[in-house]
Amino acid sequence: MSNNNPAGKRGDSRVPRHIAIILDGNGRWAKKRGLPRTAGHAVGAETFRRIATYCREIGVEYLTVYAFSTENWRRPEAEVSTIMKLLGKYLHEAIDTMERDHIRMKVFGDVQGLSPELRALVDKTDEISQRYEGFQANICLNYGGRDEILHAARRYAEDYAAGRADGELTEDGFASYLYSAGVPDPDLLIRPGGEQRISNFLLWQCAYAEFYFTDVLWPDFTPEELDKAIAVFNSRDRRYGGVKG
Ligand code: FPP
Repeated sequence: MSNNNPAGKRGDSRVPRHIAIILDGNGRWAKKRGLPRTAGHAVGAETFRRIATYCREIGVEYLTVYAFSTENWRRPEAEVSTIMKLLGKYLHEAIDTMERDHIRMKVFGDVQGLSPELRALVDKTDEISQRYEGFQANICLNYGGRDEILHAARRYAEDYAAGRADGELTEDGFASYLYSAGVPDPDLLIRPGGEQRISNFLLWQCAYAEFYFTDVLWPDFTPEELDKAIAVFNSRDRRYGGVKG
């Protein structure tokens, strides 16, 4: 399949412009195989790489994944440190691929809470992303939906107090203070791993997203599973609060 798909259409099927995924089930995947949870995260990182490549091939413009929440720091230190190492390794490797394939990559979240090494990698991916257009992968890292909204409200209040913003705050104006500024809202939110909740992910942005839940654990998630989710998305009737014409 090619990514030469400007209309976002594939056969009779519409490809969602923006897909968001909650990466869930890595720990259970590992436990089922008698492996440490961290082994599940390593396979989960590879799954992310494969799914991101597939999204780009089929003409998805934005893929946003929930990799580490503001609450995930409560996990055992060894697990947190493995996830951070995997993210560092991934960002490091991604920097070369981005340059080669002209991919944009952004981190959404409170980067001040990350290690200086990770922050430097985030700065580098930001800098490269500014040079290109096209597919964009967003990794939510030290991210929480409520935290994002609070952070945006504080930044707006600061701008208002400093005379940089007027008092006419609109939805679009507020969205420009979110980590996702400039990125269209997700059309499809996928949660593998069997849970059916949003877990503080993209609370503002998912106002009109279609939700797709599956029991498949994230490390087992394949391009075929993504195709199934897209087929379900295509069967939905999106009305955005209106009525069908
Ligand atoms: C959820 O599974 C997964 C995480 C909290 C970590 C996800 C992180 C990675 C896959 C590492 C690298 C990521 C990228 C994007 C390169 P879980 O541990 O909650 O699984 P469980 O519900 O089965 O315990």
